[in-house]
Amino acid sequence: MLNIAVLVSGGGTNLQALIDAEKAGKIKNGRISLVVASRPGVYALERAANAGIEGVVLARKEFSDVDAYSEALENLLKEKKTDLIVLAGFMTITNEKFTKAFENKIINVHPALIPSFCGKGFYGLHVHEAALARGVKLSGATVHFVNEVCDGGPIILQKAVSVENGDTPETLQRRIMEQAEWQLLPEAVSLFCEGRLEVNGAVVTILPPKA
Ligand code: GAR
Repeated sequence: MLNIAVLVSGGGTNLQALIDAEKAGKIKNGRISLVVASRPGVYALERAANAGIEGVVLARKEFSDVDAYSEALENLLKEKKTDLIVLAGFMTITNEKFTKAFENKIINVHPALIPSFCGKGFYGLHVHEAALARGVKLSGATVHFVNEVCDGGPIILQKAVSVENGDTPETLQRRIMEQAEWQLLPEAVSLFCEGRLEVNGAVVTILPPKA
């Protein structure tokens, strides 16, 4: 069983999707053993508590800079013997030392089809505002490994979702969560825990189930 740590900063609907998937037996060979929040009082912590999962607040504002925060986070995750780190709406930047320490062991969910609408400044509702302003007819979600380039790591899974007439950033965000994020993230986490993700440079190959 691999130990999964889920890192959050907000409401935690993606965390909930992971909790529900685990309960339904859909995360093979993995268990969510820790939730880390970058802000105190976020609803994701309540979701963790309700599911009986240990929740830790590592508040970004308690640390002077990115390096100090990244080091504390690395120490915590190593101390807890974390095998997989999942960024589920985690809005805090970490440094290169952190991503190198957990190379191909950090998974992020991004609410657009990378390489569109990604990188610095593209997070949460800003992503959907930009997609609507550009007039795209399709957006979606991407689950990818995290490396030192913001939203630039190897792509694991993607799913397209239609933009509808009259969409607001909020309605588009909700549709992308429902139709893509909440399915893709648990699926990618299970594939990782089953040892079915092979990474070669920028390309991830999904291996068949082990016999
Ligand atoms: C999700 O839409 C996630 O894809 C996005 O923030 C939201 C968090 O919602 N993440 C990013 O924009 C990262 N760049 P949640 O807290 O309800 O899971």
